[in-house]
Amino acid sequence: MLERPAISNHTSRNGSPLRPPFSVASSYKPDSAGLGDDVHPIIHEGRVAVITGAASGIGAAAALIFAKLGLRIAIADINEARLQQVGKEVAAIVGNQNLLVVPTDVSKLDQVVNLKEKVYELWGEVAVLMNNAGIGLKGTSWDGMNDWKTIFDVNLFGILNVQQTFVPFMIHQENQCMIINTGSKQGITNPPGNAAYNASKAAVKSLTESLAHELREQPNSNVTAHLFIPGWTHTGISGVHTAEKPAGAWSAEETVLYMLDKVRAGDFYVLVPDNETRRELDELRIMWSAGDIAEGRPALSRWHKDYKALFDEYVRDGLAGFAGSEKSF
Ligand SMILES: NC(=O)c1ccc[n+]([C@@H]2O[C@H](COP(=O)([O-])OP(=O)(O)OC[C@H]3O[C@@H](n4cnc5c(N)ncnc54)[C@H](O)[C@@H]3O)[C@@H](O)[C@H]2O)c1
Repeated sequence: MLERPAISNHTSRNGSPLRPPFSVASSYKPDSAGLGDDVHPIIHEGRVAVITGAASGIGAAAALIFAKLGLRIAIADINEARLQQVGKEVAAIVGNQNLLVVPTDVSKLDQVVNLKEKVYELWGEVAVLMNNAGIGLKGTSWDGMNDWKTIFDVNLFGILNVQQTFVPFMIHQENQCMIINTGSKQGITNPPGNAAYNASKAAVKSLTESLAHELREQPNSNVTAHLFIPGWTHTGISGVHTAEKPAGAWSAEETVLYMLDKVRAGDFYVLVPDNETRRELDELRIMWSAGDIAEGRPALSRWHKDYKALFDEYVRDGLAGFAGSEKSF
């Protein structure tokens, strides 16, 4: 077991008052000077990161960034060919002895158990469990039952398989560790057009909140949970691996580096902006969404023609209020 390093003053538990003021650098580049400047009790050289959905997009970027930070890397994905390719890139940074490539379908519990066994046999611990594999399919409210089942098998039960397989081992580790579940803004504000995906990601939000609470209530718990909520990120989820990044999207590297800053600071909700949607706008959309219930408006009133003018005014006033405050995002 690795020695526990000194806990830096950046560390807090799921957003405790220890969290330093929130400030965002203007860019998140993998080679930026800030990448490895702190000794964090979890994210540091020699510890172990396990990443699902690592053959592409956010997961692949995370594998490379954790490798640059000196962690040992276990990558898992259903797409074996792409996973092996990412494995080569990771090995070029950390060496083959610090890399484990385990083709895994997260919707299959036995394959997730196999992943866990391989990681613990080789390294005996997990520092960062990035529970990230996900798919986008278009089941609508009264059709596409097969798509609903497929999407829930991966986006909900895949996350649950990983969580239920690893956490019982992580809670007995001596060293601090964290689990990061990848959700989505669509699981919070529920925009029309993708009912199955939204519902699966709403479930991920719910189960990750419960996980965080249950871990926090454990005596001497060394595990924190985090809900990673990417903004619009240029990845393979739309089926495009090579096309140029749209101006409004962030690259996968930018999104992962932002996420790292926030989990290092101990945040539970890691709400990531992009070039189209700043954090203030996300906050207003989330508050409007909750207001549908509290104020008795119709479901999804943000997209209801009778409420459009009200919503637009709410956002205009809200953004003006943010501009007038000293709050830093
Ligand atoms: N890209 C975005 O804008 C965005 C926004 C919000 C949330 N997300 C979420 O981020 C996560 C990562 O997605 P991404 O954008 O990097 O997309 P991506 O398609 O580039 O990567 C997803 C990876 O998951 C893998 N995968 C799919 N089914 C799997 C399974 N059953 N078992 C194991 N691996 C499987 C895929 O092969 C792929 O490599 C997903 O959970 C997604 O829902 C993405």
